[in-house]
Amino acid sequence: MTVLVTGGAGFIGGNFVLDWLSQLDEPIVNLDKLTYAGNLQTLAEVEGDDRYRFVHGDIGDRELLNKILNEYQPRAILNFAAESHVDRSIHGPGEFIQTNVVGTFTLLEAVRAYWLGQDDQAKSAFRFLHVSTDEVYGTLSADDAPFTETNRYEPNSPYSASKAASDHLVRAWHHTYGLPVLTTNCSNNYGPYHFPEKLIPLVILHALAGKALPIYGDGQQVRDWLYVKDHCSAIRRVLEAGTVGETYNVGGWNEKTNLDVVTRICSLLDELSPRQDGISYAQQITYVQDRPGHDRRYAIDARKIERTLGWKPAETFETGLRKTVVWYLENQSWVEGVTSGQYRQWLETHYRG
Ligand code: NAD
Ligand code: TYD
Repeated sequence: MTVLVTGGAGFIGGNFVLDWLSQLDEPIVNLDKLTYAGNLQTLAEVEGDDRYRFVHGDIGDRELLNKILNEYQPRAILNFAAESHVDRSIHGPGEFIQTNVVGTFTLLEAVRAYWLGQDDQAKSAFRFLHVSTDEVYGTLSADDAPFTETNRYEPNSPYSASKAASDHLVRAWHHTYGLPVLTTNCSNNYGPYHFPEKLIPLVILHALAGKALPIYGDGQQVRDWLYVKDHCSAIRRVLEAGTVGETYNVGGWNEKTNLDVVTRICSLLDELSPRQDGISYAQQITYVQDRPGHDRRYAIDARKIERTLGWKPAETFETGLRKTVVWYLENQSWVEGVTSGQYRQWLETHYRG
């Protein structure tokens, strides 16, 4: 038995591969294009592991997909590969359509052909698990109930629209062709190996570097945060026991305003790595221009996955955030490896105004 992950050199996929190999004996193949967000340093500790194979390539490359599927004969595919940063999708949506929509379509077609060639037993045991986001449901007001699996799709950014499109393709490949699919819609993740263009790692690293901590608009937007290892355990659980064709919302019941998140990071740093002048890192908070079309609030109702599959997060926001800050303090070399020239250029362009 083998599973194939796509996008396993990214933030969540990388954590997933590491967790999989630390807990299970089943081999895992990782197909990743290594965009700016892909980083093999994350997987350095499993490079020589016999149960792990890396393939450099694109989920939009049908010939390569056919080759990998025939060679490794996976019993399941976990699709993490995507362009994932909302701000980048605003500056340049093309790549998001290409990978998230066309790439997912190409992957589904390759997987369907492979799946049709299996015997009946393998066919019914096969799973295609698509990793998606709560952002497909759009935005909530302060007094709206959290998103359930039956909420309407109302994506507002090029990123969330491209993820919504991919979710619809996955759904259709099940209803029309019978492909055994599962979809997870998760809230904002945080934790080790998070690329520092996203809020939490960006704030930790900017604070330590003495730079401004940029808060968009009034900082009162709400996100529902989940520690990445909890997302990985939810995905393993859905793969193991989820009902084919169903979608599962994944979240940690941790709604926080962005200002609250940034302030907590500053307090943790004040305690763990204080500034030499004794002033709090909170002094570095700076309000900057808001993101166009910025969704005000996301919140996940995670009762279905808890009720039907018995999954619950292990971390609270307090324990998970502390672990994350400590990880960044102890892993400066990983950080230096990802903050390439290309990434520095992004910071300069995006935060110029
Ligand atoms: P990420 O940007 O850190 O990693 C994406 C990975 O996919 C990178 O390794 C990249 O090289 C690879 N990739 C990109 N295009 C590819 C292509 N065409 N072919 C093969 N590989 C390609 O993203 P992430 O934060 O790890 O997110 C993983 C998945 O989880 C995405 O589908 C995202 O939509 C979803 N998700 C993310 C969050 C979050 O908070 N980060 C929350 C919910 C869902
Ligand atoms: P982000 O990590 O980009 O995730 P997403 O947009 O997918 O939720 O942003 C999390 C929140 O933090 C979001 O409301 C935007 C906000 N934000 C800032 O205020 N400043 C920043 O520099 C960044 C990157 C994000």
